[in-house]
Amino acid sequence: MGKNPSSISVTSHAKVNLYLDVRGRRPDGYHEILTLMHEISLHDRLTFTAIPRGIRLQCDNPEVPRDSSNLAWRAAALLKRRSPGHGGVHIVIEKRIPPGGGLGGGSSNAAATLRGLNRLWGLGLKQEELEALAARIGSDVPFFVRGRAAVCRGRGEIVQPVRLKERYYYVLVLPGFPVSTPDVYANLRMTLTSPKGRARLQHGVMGETNARKGAIMPYNRLESSAFRLYPVLRRLKKEVLAVCPQGALLSGSGSSLFGICRTRKEAWVAREKLSRRLKAKLMVVQGRL
Ligand code: C5P
Repeated sequence: MGKNPSSISVTSHAKVNLYLDVRGRRPDGYHEILTLMHEISLHDRLTFTAIPRGIRLQCDNPEVPRDSSNLAWRAAALLKRRSPGHGGVHIVIEKRIPPGGGLGGGSSNAAATLRGLNRLWGLGLKQEELEALAARIGSDVPFFVRGRAAVCRGRGEIVQPVRLKERYYYVLVLPGFPVSTPDVYANLRMTLTSPKGRARLQHGVMGETNARKGAIMPYNRLESSAFRLYPVLRRLKKEVLAVCPQGALLSGSGSSLFGICRTRKEAWVAREKLSRRLKAKLMVVQGRL
């Protein structure tokens, strides 16, 4: 085996939740969820360079913290504690995923750091070991170790990869303000979970197309709570649904919304229509296969 590289770069993709049901509150304060996460083409780039000691973090977006409150920093600290003797690291984050948007940017950066440092330091940790470390950083982090598409359970950390049968394009609507995930969960009004939820998800993942509505039945239980806290999001969803009849959803706890399209052209037409009506930032992205 050759010497470990002194610097490496990795991509760190965003996600949307095509389906998210909350099935109850847990004794540990988290919520039991069932979600279908899908990585999208929008991504940050992280570069890791070996330095003699410590963890240094640099980011081109001033809103992103550069200390131990950054999940990438925490991922590096966790790996250093687990496998001491590899010196330090300088992490540079080129940020394209808007922070606080429900697109998983921070969690994705943490997973990218686990993957990147595993290579930089030649640790040889297996996927399952990285996922177990990821779960200690945040509920969404294990999903991003493997990425692509997965059904996630528990607080989100139990990841079952799935292969989506269809190609998806999304029109992202970025309202430009962050949403607090703990606030959205705390503001939930739990009602009895409809058994339809699970059936709908199975249906979509299995790719048994419902001829009228497409393969996936989009759903997000967090919407009602987020919409009560931020009424502007409800109005935005109506606008997106008007141009994306296949479906429009809040991603995670928001603030980003997305419209679902089956072709790139359909997505660009929807984006064009929305751009005439909304001030929010818009993007066309592709779901990763
Ligand atoms: O795990 P993570 O730190 O990303 O979660 C952030 C917050 O979101 C938690 O502190 C909790 O308030 C809420 N949450 C939850 N149930 C989940 C995931 C997150 O209540 N399954």
